[in-house]
Amino acid sequence: MVSSPSSAVVTSGAAIRQAFLEFYAAKGHRIEPSASLVPEDPTVLLTIAGMLPFKPIFLGQRPAPSPRATTSQKCIRTNDIENVGRTARHHTFFEMLGNFSFGDYFKKDAIAWAWELSTEVYKLPPERLVVSVFRDDDDAFALWRDHVGIPPHRIIRMGEEDNFWASGPTGPCGPCSEIYYDFHPELGDDHLDLEDDSRFIEFYNLVFMQYNRDTEGHLTPLQNQNIDTGMGLERMAQILQRVPNNYETDLIFPIIETAAQLAGLNYYQSDEKTQVSLKVIGDHVRAVIHMVADGITASNGGRGYVLRRLIRRVVRHGRLLGIEGAFISRVAAAAIQLSETAFPNVREREGAITAELDREEARFLETLERGEKLLTEILAQAQGQISGADAFVLYDTYGFPLELTQEIAEEQGLTVDEAGFAVSMAEQRQRSKDAHETIDLTAQGSLDRLADAIHPTEFIGYDAAVGTSAVAALMVNGVGRETVPAGTEVQVVLAETPFYGESGGQVGDRGYLAGEDFVIRVEDVQKESGFFLHRGRVERGTATVGAQVTAQIDRACRRRVMANHTATHLLQAALKKRVSDDISQAGSLVDFDRLRFDFNCPRALTPEEVQQVEEQVNTWIAESHGAEVAVMPIEAAKAKGAIAMFGEKYGAEVRVIDFPGVSMELCGGTHVGNTAEIGLFKIISETGVASGIRRIEAVAGPAVLAYLNVRDAVVRDLAERFKVQPEELPDRVTALQNNLKTAQKELDTLRAELAVVKSDQLLDQADTIGGVKVLVAELEGVSADALKTAAERLLQKLEDGAVVLGSSPEAGKVSLVAAFGPTALAKKLQAGKFIGGIAQLCGGGGGGRPNLAQAGGRDPEKLPEALATAQQQLQAALG
Ligand code: ALA
Repeated sequence: MVSSPSSAVVTSGAAIRQAFLEFYAAKGHRIEPSASLVPEDPTVLLTIAGMLPFKPIFLGQRPAPSPRATTSQKCIRTNDIENVGRTARHHTFFEMLGNFSFGDYFKKDAIAWAWELSTEVYKLPPERLVVSVFRDDDDAFALWRDHVGIPPHRIIRMGEEDNFWASGPTGPCGPCSEIYYDFHPELGDDHLDLEDDSRFIEFYNLVFMQYNRDTEGHLTPLQNQNIDTGMGLERMAQILQRVPNNYETDLIFPIIETAAQLAGLNYYQSDEKTQVSLKVIGDHVRAVIHMVADGITASNGGRGYVLRRLIRRVVRHGRLLGIEGAFISRVAAAAIQLSETAFPNVREREGAITAELDREEARFLETLERGEKLLTEILAQAQGQISGADAFVLYDTYGFPLELTQEIAEEQGLTVDEAGFAVSMAEQRQRSKDAHETIDLTAQGSLDRLADAIHPTEFIGYDAAVGTSAVAALMVNGVGRETVPAGTEVQVVLAETPFYGESGGQVGDRGYLAGEDFVIRVEDVQKESGFFLHRGRVERGTATVGAQVTAQIDRACRRRVMANHTATHLLQAALKKRVSDDISQAGSLVDFDRLRFDFNCPRALTPEEVQQVEEQVNTWIAESHGAEVAVMPIEAAKAKGAIAMFGEKYGAEVRVIDFPGVSMELCGGTHVGNTAEIGLFKIISETGVASGIRRIEAVAGPAVLAYLNVRDAVVRDLAERFKVQPEELPDRVTALQNNLKTAQKELDTLRAELAVVKSDQLLDQADTIGGVKVLVAELEGVSADALKTAAERLLQKLEDGAVVLGSSPEAGKVSLVAAFGPTALAKKLQAGKFIGGIAQLCGGGGGGRPNLAQAGGRDPEKLPEALATAQQQLQAALG
């Protein structure tokens, strides 16, 4: 029985996706939406597989909402980024179709259904399909042979490398079995080399997920036998659309065509290098629109770096195609159009996507220009060859492709050390592999082990400030302990807790855990892999695993945090209302004594806007709006218009904090029951933190009083020192500033006069050379202006002379002046050129008119020597 309604022909990407989900829905799977590219799992930087959102379920940390699920998951992998566009099927962004069983069906059904889907829905001819199994997996081998009926020589046993799948160095894993499509069955069955990717493409991977791997590499069986599968949507599209590579499928090609049009090219008539650039653009642009849609912004670390690198590669390949100036948002528009049906959030976030891409592109174009300058310097210094390291800096930091550097070098008769470049490149690839795919959690190894033994912590703190619970685990420096004595720093896991664990910007609660004969003071609470880690210190007695404790939060701290958190929501609402509806949250911190709110906005707020926003928040506080907190399905929350933080991962059920008519946000934090409880709200500063991101720091609730008291004390102190009333302070300060300016001017005049007086004493030192009275001298601590006045006056007194004066008015600074009379000028001496040359000896430069010129330097020690040179040069010129 074929379950796809569109069973006639399934070829378009959209139809392939739909047929997959419907096929498995008909087999009892719940269709789940794609999770964000920003994973909940802290061990992974980006969502790299369809199974990732289900990892806690596989590990038994979270119950499965249904025993079977199916998804089309957006994924990003960057470990093979250099191969994108060069091979037929490497991607950064791709969609993985998957069917999952959480302890329900296993190998037999997974294999049978994968075959049914491939041959009956996608109608792939069985004689074109070859399968692989893990070396020792006789069960899978037998199922393919006896149940599906594949001839044994078309079932290939493969090693750990290819047929044992794991999402990272630790975590759930298992043997797998893959289905391959044969593009060249005419080559016969004698040498079925599945690694030959000119002949075979692997399109469906069935993972029999049954082990957990710990940090030492040991495998322990999971509670359940699970199924995790992945079918590359783009690969299936390539097969069914009969195109030579994934990029030419309807999932990507329209983007490539847009880029080609902008470059005035025809893809099919282009050479291979040009096609590679177009493919890179087609691939990366998909990745970047989805990354920004999921809330990632470009930066120098983590996900932000991946985004930045991808955008830069797009721009660079655009330049290689000869596209001048900015173009990325026009290509992105094509990608958004292509994705919006399957992923509506790209259209919703179009404004943010365009703004981020434009900004990052503009910045990078500037960098490229700076790179051109660096290249000029490198060329000037290169002796025969540009080093591999230099070429790599140009490539990596300034986006210069090696070929471009080579071309330019060649024009100057130079070569580039290609081998050295390759070494730097390999090092970089290793670095990014290490940094970007997985994060090493070795230090938390025992937490991983803990995950197998106990259940995630239950949070009871929305309603309760006190609770009783058993100590589930104790750790000292991350290592599990049965008992912990007084005086020791400890991490405590409870079965349930009223303590809020730091998340969503809100800090963790403080308080006490009191056992029958021990007390632990809690300083901070962090959430990791579903556990709440209460960090603190055993104050007295010996803490013991299994003991009952009364867990009590510090209510005063909690009240402060609640006021600050609700104030943050009101602040966001006020910014949207008073400044711009386009403002969206980029980050936040809610602490006991302050709050910080980062938001996307292309410009600084005016002081009036800041004041209006502050007034708006205080108005809402005074109006006393009650909170309505509800848990509902995410679709319902979105339909009601609740603001979600983009990039944040939300489950199917979300918590909505609603102050009706004022603010409605999805939020897991703790809030006041009524805005009036906040009391007062005060903005402390509005600043820029990154391009396009502004930050407001503010205080709310009891913290406002503490803040105002500190300010008040400063004002009182100043008023006392100046002996005025506080309101007279501004006038008093202005008067003082004016006095200071006048005094400074007077000082400058006196200094100049002093210089003149001192210089008069120099007149006798003048030598006569070739009929010209020559005076070269150093004056101590004289400013450039005073030095000039002195030189002019001396020249006048000497009548027909040549005067060169130098001084060091302050540390690290040299002033020089030259003034030449008619005979010196007639002998071709030029003050500007002359003094410029002398200044160079003191680490500087300068110049001016032929008869009078000033210059400066940075090296006072060199001044005596420089003046001696001046004397010699005048001697030579005039003598
Ligand atoms: N998790 C498996 C993969 O990514 C299906 O290939």
